[in-house]
Amino acid sequence: MSDTLAADLFAPTSIGAIDVTNRIVMAPLTRSRAGMDGVHGPLAVDYYRQRASAGLIVTEATNISQQGRGYAYTPGIYTDAHAEAWREVTDAVHESGGKIVLQLWHVGRVSHFSLQEGGAPPVAPSAIRAGGRVYTLAGDDVPSMPRALEADEIPGLVEDYRNAAHLAKKAGFDGVEVHAANGYLLDQFLRDSTNRRTDLYGGSVGNRARFPIEVVKAVAEIWGADRVGVRISPLSTAIGETPLDSDPQATYGYFVQQLGGLGLAYLHAVEGQLREANAASALDFKALHAAFGGAYIANNGYDRQLAMDAIASGHADMISFGRAFIGNPDLVERLRRNAPLFEAPLTAYYGGGAEGYTDFPTLAD
Ligand code: PHB
Repeated sequence: MSDTLAADLFAPTSIGAIDVTNRIVMAPLTRSRAGMDGVHGPLAVDYYRQRASAGLIVTEATNISQQGRGYAYTPGIYTDAHAEAWREVTDAVHESGGKIVLQLWHVGRVSHFSLQEGGAPPVAPSAIRAGGRVYTLAGDDVPSMPRALEADEIPGLVEDYRNAAHLAKKAGFDGVEVHAANGYLLDQFLRDSTNRRTDLYGGSVGNRARFPIEVVKAVAEIWGADRVGVRISPLSTAIGETPLDSDPQATYGYFVQQLGGLGLAYLHAVEGQLREANAASALDFKALHAAFGGAYIANNGYDRQLAMDAIASGHADMISFGRAFIGNPDLVERLRRNAPLFEAPLTAYYGGGAEGYTDFPTLAD
């Protein structure tokens, strides 16, 4: 019999340079409640403060440039006004004892000309149109036809990420998470289904991973690698109807192995299809975790028992919960007590004001 204590979902740990009070992460959640200038107001401050008992909050995906925007009312991190608004959020979370990292986002082809500067077409590794829907000021619409990025534009994009990382530091975050998931720009480069380039940024997996790795390195120069995480979702096709890579195990295996060499804070993996129930998957995520070699945050339909088991078995270092955090600001306390969870209605998810955003009660209420 072993006297080793199994790791506990509710016990403190550290992830990279970030000390956390428990192993529960609030996953990034688009809530579409910023201004069209990407600036957050006081509602977002309340929203994040209410959820500060999470061991770690990953903010909603945040545009690194106007070109990176794919949906109306999503926040930005490319002007001083953005950083000042986020500073209110980070102060509130820290005052409440929480930790918070900002998710750096560029949607690539999953956008609409009406959201772009001067009505320009969205950019992508290759000129292949996304499916699905995007949200504009005039309602939802199909994504616009993108144009393929010129190779000499890539350094400017890396600089956009670097600038966003710098502003995130000014805003007082504990770190940043690079969004390389869900068929957005960096994932469009990684997947051979969306990247048909024939230059240094396409073709072999080494070439397809080149730009995402350049981005992570630039961001790590600003923050120190131990305050930078990366999110991947090798199996998600939900956004932009993005087809899978032809060999996700090899592609993401190579990518995370390269990231592992950088000494990052963590790898955050969506272990299946976005928004679906936890299920045995076709991909070996334990092999990805091993190839990365650092801390691992698991996501995708985990419930209390699955989360406790995944932490106890060493499958993951932390577990992130998305939708459960919408309707349960005190999710950590509810999981601790095995209390019932409130299921927020879908209509609350995107857009609007306080209703369905900051008006969900805690057990104590
Ligand atoms: C969404 O807006 O639904 C959304 C945003 C970012 C993601 C996934 C979904 O990574």
